[in-house]
Amino acid sequence: MKFDMSRCLDALSLALDFAGTDTFDPKPNHSRRTAYVALAVADELGIPEEDKKDLYALALLHDNGIVMSGQDFNSLEQAASHCIHGEKNLAGLPLQKPRRNVIRFHHENYDGSGPFRVRGADIPLLARLIHLANTLEAEFDLWKLDPSERKRVREYALSGAGKRFDPDAAAAFQAAARKERFWCDMTFGNDMDSLHRRTPQIFYDFQWKDIVSISEIFMRIVDSKSRFTFNHSGGLAAHADTMSDFYGFTPDTKIQLHIAAHLHDLGKLYVPNAILEKPGSLDAAELACIKRHPYITKLVLEKIPFFEEIAAWAGNHHERLNGKGYPDNLTEKELDCQSRLLGVLDIYQAMTEERPYRKAVTHKEAVETLNGMVRLGYLDAKMVKDVSQTVWPLDGNIKLCDPCGD
Ligand SMILES: [Fe+2]
Ligand SMILES: [Fe+2]
Ligand SMILES: [Fe+2]
Repeated sequence: MKFDMSRCLDALSLALDFAGTDTFDPKPNHSRRTAYVALAVADELGIPEEDKKDLYALALLHDNGIVMSGQDFNSLEQAASHCIHGEKNLAGLPLQKPRRNVIRFHHENYDGSGPFRVRGADIPLLARLIHLANTLEAEFDLWKLDPSERKRVREYALSGAGKRFDPDAAAAFQAAARKERFWCDMTFGNDMDSLHRRTPQIFYDFQWKDIVSISEIFMRIVDSKSRFTFNHSGGLAAHADTMSDFYGFTPDTKIQLHIAAHLHDLGKLYVPNAILEKPGSLDAAELACIKRHPYITKLVLEKIPFFEEIAAWAGNHHERLNGKGYPDNLTEKELDCQSRLLGVLDIYQAMTEERPYRKAVTHKEAVETLNGMVRLGYLDAKMVKDVSQTVWPLDGNIKLCDPCGD
């Protein structure tokens, strides 16, 4: 069985587009369009297929370090910070070849005036291509067909040749942008299928444990969004492993639940920290915003091949047996064991962590709260009992369990 990594990274990049929510308006499909433009230039340059595969993967994830860096871009130093975090976070990403410094140098200018002062051929080619594509994507609304806008984009790329941009890449962009298809793909890419025309097919022999290296990348991004959640998804995955062993789940189910735990709050990238970290109570609009996060989690994960169950379990973690959960108001008969379990463990893990409005609670207090929710019909009584006897609060330095058990 083969796993379609292109589809997987493409879907996850949609969540990354929200990563800058706290400092600028998110631009939906920014990562996808950056990848498309980079590939269009790469096609003109005639670079080998295996380089294009890695270019595609890295362009989709080029901004993976934004959340960890504190999301501020007011100086070169701050731009450098998301490059450093992003490079480190992708260390486990499966690629065709090792690709050192592509993410680290994705804001370097060809003339050496970028954040790390690296210049010319010392910047990896893939980084130079991502820099050009990312800059054009960020500066312009490339999906607009307006001919005067197209001309401005071409002139902008050309005027940066040899300064901000690799001159060969800037020239190749001129060639790509002369084709009607380039702009049409971008315009009709709102439904996104047109952007897949250039997508290299990246298939790997399918093994769940390889997918964990991807889910860990996103777990670290989501957990770093707020200082209060630095351990949340990783901690949830550790508890999920403990309960998988307790219930005797198959190795496949255990690892899928582990991945679901890593990714359950992916949609929180959409929620501004001003809401996530608000010390007081939330108003109706803020609450509605927060309640969208499991919806977004599910929307993204449902696009990934083999992720049907992971998408359901992760996306259902705020559903409750009495139908008072969200986003789908599912009820007891619609919630399988793993969805219920992730819901219970999520509450337990969140309560045993500090929040802006309270300290972390003890195991005993967490169990009391869970039992109160059982009495009100929210949670499964037997499962809460099992969890309360099996799981304990994690200390600050949790050892992330290996879901494969080896
Ligand atoms: Fe960036
Ligand atoms: Fe970007
Ligand atoms: Fe959540």
